[in-house]
Amino acid sequence: MNKKHIEEATDYFKKQTTNKPTIGVILGSGLGDFVELLTDTVTIPYADIPHFPVSTVAGHHGELVFGTLNDKQIVAMRGRVHYYEGNEMHEVTFPVRVMRLLGVDSLVVTNAAGGINKSFTPGDFMLLTDHINQMGTNPLIGPNEAFFGERFTDLSEAYDSTYIQHAIECAEKLNISLKKGTYVANTGPTYETPAEVRMLRTLGGDAVGMSTVPEVIVARHMSMRVLGISCISNMAAGILNTPLSHEEVIETTGKARTNFLSLLKEILITLPEE
Ligand code: HPA
Repeated sequence: MNKKHIEEATDYFKKQTTNKPTIGVILGSGLGDFVELLTDTVTIPYADIPHFPVSTVAGHHGELVFGTLNDKQIVAMRGRVHYYEGNEMHEVTFPVRVMRLLGVDSLVVTNAAGGINKSFTPGDFMLLTDHINQMGTNPLIGPNEAFFGERFTDLSEAYDSTYIQHAIECAEKLNISLKKGTYVANTGPTYETPAEVRMLRTLGGDAVGMSTVPEVIVARHMSMRVLGISCISNMAAGILNTPLSHEEVIETTGKARTNFLSLLKEILITLPEE
């Protein structure tokens, strides 16, 4: 991690916008339209931001959007960068560090994920109650920058229990079905084999994806409160008799879009921050 680079990117934003976000949102594959709900927006392409990593995946925009949702000041990442693109872990998590320096203390992470739990259906939403890091690495490896957090980060409540309860109440209010479960992060870029999916189910996983966990770990290092939601875009390999494709992922998240936007909006405008 390069603290100076993080500070330079933060200073760049402070020159571009007077918005002082307290909530950060990371929008996963096919979920970027959320930014259209924000008002008074300032949009900055990742490529313009000093030291910011740039996303290369089709369907992932690469821009940071500052805006307002009711009375909440929000900064949203439309598209994230992934480890499988060849980025280092400190690059994947760089935006979360910058968000923290901008004043964000609540992070809402979203993603598209494959359903491992057989009671799930594509198009379902799953609230992350915990995760399993199967990436074989950790973004906090390396010298600890004490300015940001402690050497050994407690992950016994990676996902904030108050936020989990809040999200459940929002879903009930809107009559949107919200499953709960453990998210497994693999590096990708391959989807899993059926044998790997059986293994992950045995390990206690409910959904599997290629992101989110690095950002959550770094957010927890900096004592941010985290809420995570997956859109189950497909059933993981071997569960149904159909091949997996990125097109299916984008198509399913596209269909779930309206409910996803309503749920996320409700969660954010009433998010308990203290
Ligand atoms: N596996 C891993 N990552 C994913 C999947 C999947 O089935 N679907 C969407 N992202």
